[in-house]
Amino acid sequence: MPTRLFLSSGDLMADRRFDFARDLQLKGDLAAAADLLLQATELAPGFASAWFTLGGIREQLGEGDAAIAAFRKALAADPDDRHGAGLRLMLSGAQPLSGMPQAYVRTLFDQYAPKFESALVGDLGYRGPKLLFRAVLAARAAVRKPALFRSAIDLGCGTGLAATAFAAQVDHFTGIDLSPRMIERARATGLYAELEVADMLEGLRDRPDGSAELILAADAMVYVADILPVLREAKRVLAAGGLVAFTVETHRGEGVILSEGLRYAHSAEYVRASIGEAGLALSRLDDLSARDEDNEPVPGLVAVAAKG
Ligand SMILES: C[S@@+](CC[C@H](N)C(=O)[O-])C[C@H]1O[C@@H](n2cnc3c(N)ncnc32)[C@H](O)[C@@H]1O
Repeated sequence: MPTRLFLSSGDLMADRRFDFARDLQLKGDLAAAADLLLQATELAPGFASAWFTLGGIREQLGEGDAAIAAFRKALAADPDDRHGAGLRLMLSGAQPLSGMPQAYVRTLFDQYAPKFESALVGDLGYRGPKLLFRAVLAARAAVRKPALFRSAIDLGCGTGLAATAFAAQVDHFTGIDLSPRMIERARATGLYAELEVADMLEGLRDRPDGSAELILAADAMVYVADILPVLREAKRVLAAGGLVAFTVETHRGEGVILSEGLRYAHSAEYVRASIGEAGLALSRLDDLSARDEDNEPVPGLVAVAAKG
Protein backbone atom coordinates (compact mmCIF):
# COMPACT_ATOMS: atom_id res chain seq x y z
CA MET A 1 0.00 0.00 0.00
CA PRO A 2 1.10 3.63 -0.44
CA THR A 3 3.43 5.31 1.98
CA ARG A 4 1.65 7.06 4.82
CA LEU A 5 0.41 10.54 3.95
CA PHE A 6 2.15 13.37 5.78
CA LEU A 7 0.79 16.91 5.70
CA SER A 8 3.19 19.33 7.37
CA SER A 9 1.76 21.41 10.22
CA GLY A 10 3.82 24.39 9.10
CA ASP A 11 5.50 24.34 12.55
CA LEU A 12 8.99 22.83 12.52
CA MET A 13 8.89 21.73 16.17
CA ALA A 14 5.50 20.09 15.77
CA ASP A 15 6.65 18.28 12.61
CA ARG A 16 9.76 17.04 14.47
CA ARG A 17 7.66 15.70 17.31
CA PHE A 18 5.51 13.93 14.74
CA ASP A 19 8.63 12.26 13.28
CA PHE A 20 9.79 11.11 16.73
CA ALA A 21 6.32 9.86 17.50
CA ARG A 22 6.28 7.79 14.30
CA ASP A 23 9.64 6.25 15.25
CA LEU A 24 8.27 5.35 18.67
CA GLN A 25 5.10 3.94 17.12
CA LEU A 26 7.15 1.76 14.77
CA LYS A 27 9.22 0.55 17.76
CA GLY A 28 5.98 -0.37 19.52
CA ASP A 29 6.07 2.29 22.25
CA LEU A 30 2.52 3.43 21.60
CA ALA A 31 1.92 5.33 24.83
CA ALA A 32 5.05 7.47 24.36
CA ALA A 33 4.13 8.04 20.70
CA ALA A 34 0.65 9.22 21.74
CA ASP A 35 2.16 11.64 24.27
CA LEU A 36 4.45 13.15 21.64
CA LEU A 37 1.60 13.48 19.16
CA LEU A 38 -0.47 15.29 21.77
CA GLN A 39 2.45 17.67 22.31
CA ALA A 40 2.64 18.21 18.54
CA THR A 41 -1.05 19.09 18.41
CA GLU A 42 -0.62 21.52 21.32
CA LEU A 43 1.98 23.34 19.21
CA ALA A 44 -0.12 23.04 16.02
CA PRO A 45 -3.81 22.42 16.81
CA GLY A 46 -4.69 22.06 13.11
CA PHE A 47 -2.08 19.32 12.50
CA ALA A 48 -4.24 16.79 10.61
CA SER A 49 -1.51 14.13 10.20
CA ALA A 50 -0.79 14.16 13.93
CA TRP A 51 -4.47 13.84 14.86
CA PHE A 52 -4.98 11.07 12.32
CA THR A 53 -1.93 9.11 13.51
CA LEU A 54 -3.01 9.62 17.12
CA GLY A 55 -6.43 8.20 16.23
CA GLY A 56 -4.79 5.05 14.86
CA ILE A 57 -2.61 4.66 17.96
CA ARG A 58 -5.58 5.16 20.28
CA GLU A 59 -7.33 2.39 18.38
CA GLN A 60 -4.30 0.13 18.75
CA LEU A 61 -4.35 0.88 22.49
CA GLY A 62 -8.02 -0.07 22.65
CA GLU A 63 -9.06 3.49 23.57
CA GLY A 64 -12.09 3.70 21.29
CA ASP A 65 -13.57 7.03 22.45
CA ALA A 66 -10.21 8.78 22.38
CA ALA A 67 -9.58 7.38 18.90
CA ILE A 68 -12.90 8.77 17.69
CA ALA A 69 -12.10 12.17 19.22
CA ALA A 70 -8.71 12.23 17.45
CA PHE A 71 -10.19 11.22 14.08
CA ARG A 72 -12.82 13.98 14.47
CA LYS A 73 -10.00 16.49 15.06
CA ALA A 74 -8.19 15.18 11.94
CA LEU A 75 -11.34 15.68 9.90
CA ALA A 76 -11.88 19.19 11.25
CA ALA A 77 -8.23 20.05 10.50
CA ASP A 78 -8.51 18.82 6.89
CA PRO A 79 -12.16 18.99 5.78
CA ASP A 80 -11.20 17.52 2.37
CA ASP A 81 -10.12 14.51 4.42
CA ARG A 82 -7.05 13.37 2.50
CA HIS A 83 -6.21 10.91 5.31
CA GLY A 84 -9.64 9.29 5.27
CA ALA A 85 -10.47 10.07 8.92
CA GLY A 86 -14.16 10.02 8.00
CA LEU A 87 -13.80 6.40 6.86
CA ARG A 88 -12.22 5.45 10.19
CA LEU A 89 -15.17 7.11 11.93
CA MET A 90 -17.57 5.13 9.72
CA LEU A 91 -15.71 1.92 10.48
CA SER A 92 -15.95 2.50 14.22
CA GLY A 93 -19.67 3.29 13.91
CA ALA A 94 -19.17 6.90 15.04
CA GLN A 95 -20.44 8.18 11.69
CA PRO A 96 -23.07 6.69 9.38
CA LEU A 97 -21.97 5.06 6.15
CA SER A 98 -21.54 7.62 3.38
CA GLY A 99 -19.49 8.22 0.25
CA MET A 100 -15.72 8.13 0.11
CA PRO A 101 -14.03 11.56 0.25
CA GLN A 102 -12.77 12.35 -3.27
CA ALA A 103 -9.56 13.91 -1.91
CA TYR A 104 -8.84 10.68 -0.02
CA VAL A 105 -9.28 8.51 -3.14
CA ARG A 106 -7.20 10.91 -5.24
CA THR A 107 -4.39 11.07 -2.66
CA LEU A 108 -4.43 7.29 -2.16
CA PHE A 109 -4.12 6.48 -5.85
CA ASP A 110 -1.75 9.34 -6.69
CA GLN A 111 0.60 7.80 -4.12
CA TYR A 112 -0.13 4.29 -5.29
CA ALA A 113 0.25 4.90 -9.06
CA PRO A 114 3.97 4.06 -9.51
CA LYS A 115 3.63 0.65 -7.85
CA PHE A 116 -0.04 -0.04 -8.57
CA GLU A 117 0.37 -2.76 -11.16
CA SER A 118 3.11 -4.70 -9.38
CA ALA A 119 1.22 -4.48 -6.06
CA LEU A 120 -2.23 -5.32 -7.39
CA VAL A 121 -1.50 -7.74 -10.21
CA GLY A 122 1.71 -9.16 -8.74
CA ASP A 123 1.00 -9.34 -5.02
CA LEU A 124 -2.79 -9.57 -4.90
CA GLY A 125 -3.40 -11.67 -8.02
CA TYR A 126 -5.71 -9.01 -9.44
CA ARG A 127 -7.95 -10.38 -12.21
CA GLY A 128 -10.82 -7.83 -12.46
CA PRO A 129 -10.36 -6.89 -16.15
CA LYS A 130 -10.06 -10.55 -17.21
CA LEU A 131 -13.27 -11.42 -15.35
CA LEU A 132 -15.11 -8.50 -16.93
CA PHE A 133 -13.83 -9.52 -20.35
CA ARG A 134 -15.13 -13.07 -19.97
CA ALA A 135 -18.47 -11.88 -18.55
CA VAL A 136 -19.03 -9.38 -21.36
CA LEU A 137 -18.18 -11.99 -24.01
CA ALA A 138 -20.61 -14.44 -22.38
CA ALA A 139 -23.38 -11.80 -22.11
CA ARG A 140 -22.99 -10.96 -25.82
CA ALA A 141 -22.87 -14.61 -26.85
CA ALA A 142 -26.12 -15.22 -24.94
CA VAL A 143 -27.92 -12.67 -27.14
CA ARG A 144 -26.04 -13.76 -30.29
CA LYS A 145 -24.31 -10.44 -30.78
CA PRO A 146 -20.60 -9.87 -31.42
CA ALA A 147 -18.62 -8.44 -28.52
CA LEU A 148 -17.46 -5.47 -30.56
CA PHE A 149 -18.09 -1.94 -29.36
CA ARG A 150 -17.63 1.36 -31.18
CA SER A 151 -17.26 3.32 -27.95
CA ALA A 152 -16.59 2.33 -24.35
CA ILE A 153 -16.12 4.21 -21.09
CA ASP A 154 -13.80 2.85 -18.41
CA LEU A 155 -14.88 4.22 -15.00
CA GLY A 156 -12.03 4.41 -12.49
CA CYS A 157 -9.71 3.41 -15.34
CA GLY A 158 -6.57 3.51 -13.18
CA THR A 159 -3.46 2.64 -15.18
CA GLY A 160 -5.50 1.18 -18.03
CA LEU A 161 -5.68 -2.55 -17.32
CA ALA A 162 -9.31 -2.83 -18.48
CA ALA A 163 -8.54 -1.09 -21.77
CA THR A 164 -5.69 -3.53 -22.24
CA ALA A 165 -8.05 -6.49 -21.75
CA PHE A 166 -10.68 -5.04 -24.13
CA ALA A 167 -8.30 -3.45 -26.66
CA ALA A 168 -9.35 -5.70 -29.56
CA GLN A 169 -13.05 -5.22 -28.77
CA VAL A 170 -13.35 -1.43 -28.61
CA ASP A 171 -12.73 1.29 -31.24
CA HIS A 172 -12.87 4.36 -29.01
CA PHE A 173 -12.01 4.14 -25.33
CA THR A 174 -12.67 6.91 -22.80
CA GLY A 175 -11.11 6.65 -19.36
CA ILE A 176 -12.36 8.52 -16.30
CA ASP A 177 -10.48 8.53 -13.00
CA LEU A 178 -10.16 10.75 -9.93
CA SER A 179 -6.39 10.36 -9.74
CA PRO A 180 -4.21 12.45 -12.12
CA ARG A 181 -1.24 10.13 -11.55
CA MET A 182 -3.25 7.07 -12.51
CA ILE A 183 -4.52 8.93 -15.59
CA GLU A 184 -0.90 9.71 -16.57
CA ARG A 185 -0.19 5.98 -16.55
CA ALA A 186 -3.34 5.25 -18.54
CA ARG A 187 -2.27 7.86 -21.10
CA ALA A 188 1.10 6.14 -21.50
CA THR A 189 -0.64 2.95 -22.70
CA GLY A 190 -1.85 4.79 -25.82
CA LEU A 191 -5.11 2.83 -25.57
CA TYR A 192 -7.47 5.67 -24.66
CA ALA A 193 -8.80 8.16 -27.19
CA GLU A 194 -9.98 10.36 -24.30
CA LEU A 195 -9.00 10.59 -20.64
CA GLU A 196 -10.62 12.71 -17.98
CA VAL A 197 -9.67 13.41 -14.38
CA ALA A 198 -13.07 13.35 -12.72
CA ASP A 199 -15.36 11.54 -10.35
CA MET A 200 -17.06 8.78 -12.35
CA LEU A 201 -20.58 10.13 -11.73
CA GLU A 202 -19.62 13.67 -12.70
CA GLY A 203 -17.71 12.38 -15.73
CA LEU A 204 -20.72 10.36 -16.90
CA ARG A 205 -23.01 13.38 -16.45
CA ASP A 206 -20.97 15.25 -19.09
CA ARG A 207 -21.58 12.53 -21.70
CA PRO A 208 -24.42 12.74 -24.26
CA ASP A 209 -27.38 10.33 -24.19
CA GLY A 210 -26.80 7.03 -25.98
CA SER A 211 -23.14 7.79 -26.70
CA ALA A 212 -21.48 4.58 -25.39
CA GLU A 213 -21.99 0.92 -26.21
CA LEU A 214 -20.06 -0.41 -23.21
CA ILE A 215 -19.34 0.96 -19.74
CA LEU A 216 -16.81 -0.82 -17.52
CA ALA A 217 -15.83 -0.40 -13.89
CA ALA A 218 -13.12 -2.83 -12.81
CA ASP A 219 -12.45 -2.73 -9.06
CA ALA A 220 -13.73 0.86 -8.95
CA MET A 221 -17.26 0.49 -7.51
CA VAL A 222 -15.53 -0.71 -4.31
CA TYR A 223 -14.89 3.01 -3.70
CA VAL A 224 -18.52 3.99 -4.30
CA ALA A 225 -21.02 3.44 -1.48
CA ASP A 226 -24.22 4.08 -3.43
CA ILE A 227 -23.86 2.64 -6.93
CA LEU A 228 -27.42 3.50 -8.01
CA PRO A 229 -26.72 7.08 -9.23
CA VAL A 230 -23.80 5.76 -11.31
CA LEU A 231 -25.96 3.01 -12.82
CA ARG A 232 -28.77 5.47 -13.60
CA GLU A 233 -26.35 7.76 -15.38
CA ALA A 234 -24.75 4.77 -17.15
CA LYS A 235 -28.17 3.81 -18.46
CA ARG A 236 -28.71 7.30 -19.89
CA VAL A 237 -25.26 7.32 -21.54
CA LEU A 238 -25.58 3.81 -22.99
CA ALA A 239 -26.96 3.22 -26.46
CA ALA A 240 -29.88 0.77 -26.75
CA GLY A 241 -28.51 -2.75 -26.27
CA GLY A 242 -25.38 -1.39 -24.59
CA LEU A 243 -23.80 -3.07 -21.57
CA VAL A 244 -22.48 -1.95 -18.21
CA ALA A 245 -20.11 -4.42 -16.56
CA PHE A 246 -18.50 -4.03 -13.15
CA THR A 247 -16.91 -5.86 -10.25
CA VAL A 248 -17.74 -5.36 -6.57
CA GLU A 249 -16.61 -6.91 -3.34
CA THR A 250 -19.46 -8.54 -1.50
CA HIS A 251 -20.67 -9.83 1.86
CA ARG A 252 -23.41 -12.15 3.05
CA GLY A 253 -25.42 -9.53 4.95
CA GLU A 254 -27.71 -6.83 3.63
CA GLY A 255 -26.92 -3.63 1.78
CA VAL A 256 -23.53 -1.95 1.75
CA ILE A 257 -20.82 -2.12 4.40
CA LEU A 258 -17.34 -0.65 4.71
CA SER A 259 -14.74 -3.38 5.15
CA GLU A 260 -11.64 -3.22 7.36
CA GLY A 261 -9.66 -2.60 4.18
CA LEU A 262 -11.64 0.65 3.73
CA ARG A 263 -13.45 -0.58 0.62
CA TYR A 264 -17.20 -0.97 0.33
CA ALA A 265 -18.75 -4.41 0.00
CA HIS A 266 -22.14 -4.61 -1.73
CA SER A 267 -24.50 -7.50 -1.13
CA ALA A 268 -25.74 -9.43 -4.17
CA GLU A 269 -29.31 -8.35 -3.37
CA TYR A 270 -28.25 -4.72 -3.23
CA VAL A 271 -26.51 -4.98 -6.62
CA ARG A 272 -29.50 -6.73 -8.16
CA ALA A 273 -31.94 -4.13 -6.77
CA SER A 274 -29.77 -1.20 -7.88
CA ILE A 275 -29.57 -2.56 -11.42
CA GLY A 276 -33.36 -2.96 -11.48
CA GLU A 277 -34.00 0.51 -10.03
CA ALA A 278 -31.68 2.05 -12.61
CA GLY A 279 -33.91 0.56 -15.33
CA LEU A 280 -31.27 -1.86 -16.57
CA ALA A 281 -31.78 -5.57 -17.22
CA LEU A 282 -29.43 -7.92 -15.37
CA SER A 283 -27.58 -10.18 -17.83
CA ARG A 284 -25.26 -11.93 -15.35
CA LEU A 285 -24.31 -11.75 -11.70
CA ASP A 286 -21.52 -14.19 -10.96
CA ASP A 287 -19.82 -15.00 -7.66
CA LEU A 288 -16.25 -14.29 -8.65
CA SER A 289 -13.36 -12.76 -6.78
CA ALA A 290 -11.23 -10.08 -8.45
CA ARG A 291 -8.30 -10.25 -6.05
CA ASP A 292 -6.74 -11.99 -3.07
CA GLU A 293 -5.99 -10.83 0.41
CA ASP A 294 -3.74 -12.88 2.70
CA ASN A 295 -3.65 -15.41 -0.15
CA GLU A 296 -7.44 -15.90 0.04
CA PRO A 297 -9.87 -14.74 -2.67
CA VAL A 298 -11.85 -11.70 -1.48
CA PRO A 299 -15.57 -12.48 -1.98
CA GLY A 300 -16.74 -10.63 -5.06
CA LEU A 301 -19.34 -10.32 -7.79
CA VAL A 302 -19.10 -9.64 -11.48
CA ALA A 303 -22.22 -7.94 -12.81
CA VAL A 304 -23.28 -7.31 -16.41
CA ALA A 305 -26.48 -5.39 -17.17
CA ALA A 306 -28.00 -4.27 -20.44
CA LYS A 307 -30.00 -1.28 -21.58
CA GLY A 308 -33.10 -2.59 -23.30
C1 LIG B 1 -8.23 -0.42 -7.70
S1 LIG B 1 -8.11 0.77 -8.94
C2 LIG B 1 -8.65 -0.10 -10.39
C3 LIG B 1 -8.14 0.55 -11.65
C4 LIG B 1 -8.53 -0.16 -12.95
N1 LIG B 1 -9.94 -0.10 -13.19
C5 LIG B 1 -8.03 -1.58 -12.99
O1 LIG B 1 -8.83 -2.49 -13.17
O2 LIG B 1 -6.81 -1.76 -12.84
C6 LIG B 1 -9.45 1.85 -8.61
C7 LIG B 1 -9.43 3.13 -9.41
O3 LIG B 1 -10.69 3.77 -9.29
C8 LIG B 1 -10.48 5.16 -9.14
N2 LIG B 1 -11.66 5.70 -8.48
C9 LIG B 1 -12.14 5.38 -7.25
N3 LIG B 1 -13.27 6.06 -7.00
C10 LIG B 1 -13.53 6.80 -8.11
C11 LIG B 1 -14.57 7.69 -8.46
N4 LIG B 1 -15.58 7.96 -7.64
N5 LIG B 1 -14.52 8.27 -9.67
C12 LIG B 1 -13.49 8.01 -10.53
N6 LIG B 1 -12.49 7.18 -10.24
C13 LIG B 1 -12.50 6.58 -9.05
C14 LIG B 1 -9.19 5.28 -8.37
O4 LIG B 1 -8.60 6.53 -8.51
C15 LIG B 1 -8.38 4.14 -8.94
O5 LIG B 1 -7.60 4.54 -10.03
